[in-house]
Amino acid sequence: MTDPLLSVRDLVSGYGATRVLQGIDLDVHQGAVVALIGRNGVGKTTTLRTILGTVTPTSGSVTFDGQDVTTLSAERTAQAGIALVPEERRIFPGLTVRENVRIGRLGGRRDADKPTVDDVVDEFENLRRHRDSRGSSLSGGEQQMLAIARALVAAPELLMLDEPTEGLAPTIVQQVRRKIAELNREGSTVLLVEQNVGVALDVADYVYILAKGRVVHEGTAASVAENDAVLDRYLGVSTVE
Ligand SMILES: Nc1ncnc2c1ncn2[C@@H]1O[C@H](COP(=O)(O)OP(=O)(O)O)[C@@H](O)[C@H]1O
Ligand SMILES: [Mg+2]
Repeated sequence: MTDPLLSVRDLVSGYGATRVLQGIDLDVHQGAVVALIGRNGVGKTTTLRTILGTVTPTSGSVTFDGQDVTTLSAERTAQAGIALVPEERRIFPGLTVRENVRIGRLGGRRDADKPTVDDVVDEFENLRRHRDSRGSSLSGGEQQMLAIARALVAAPELLMLDEPTEGLAPTIVQQVRRKIAELNREGSTVLLVEQNVGVALDVADYVYILAKGRVVHEGTAASVAENDAVLDRYLGVSTVE
């Protein structure tokens, strides 16, 4: 087995005196989709923020592509090749689709052969038609696609997505799920945080379940999908549709 692309070890982190992550271990191998699932407030977003560097860990380590990125700023971690599509999407409403994507192209790896803004926009069926429309005029699903496009234009080695299907209508949820699967087929490595357990188990190869800042269960998506006791105990769902 080759070394993981991302390796998180005994990561402890939080906000001020509040400890949220109690020692997280997780690996993401090149080419995989790894999902991080768990109830609200267990520390999923905090895990992604600590990996990126917007939250600084108290202890533990984050190794990416052979480099220790534990204490790097978010900007430096992005330059190392990690991109985060945040929970709130953070689209610039007054800028057009192309202008939003152009901002993403300013960050990320310096040495990377980045795609052009139009190349990335063209890959998204529902952005192509709106390339000169303002962010504010897009639907929720389109804004999510734009947030993903803005991350991809930096040519990241690892794409982290924080609840990309949150608040979207069921048909749009499926569009996002298909997009993640497509990006992975084309070579993207993905760390996905999801509340939608069905989407996570469908698209991921491997799953970590978080509860109260710890990994309480891990396994292949197929093994978790069959484990009714784990689904019920940690996620409050008995079956996955
Ligand atoms: N900026 C913050 N300042 C203080 N506490 C926070 C902040 N963000 C999140 N928390 C707290 O950290 C815990 C974990 O939050 P979070 O990582 O967002 O959980 P999840 O993404 O799993 O829903 C929660 O108790 C939340 O209230
Ligand atoms: Mg969250």
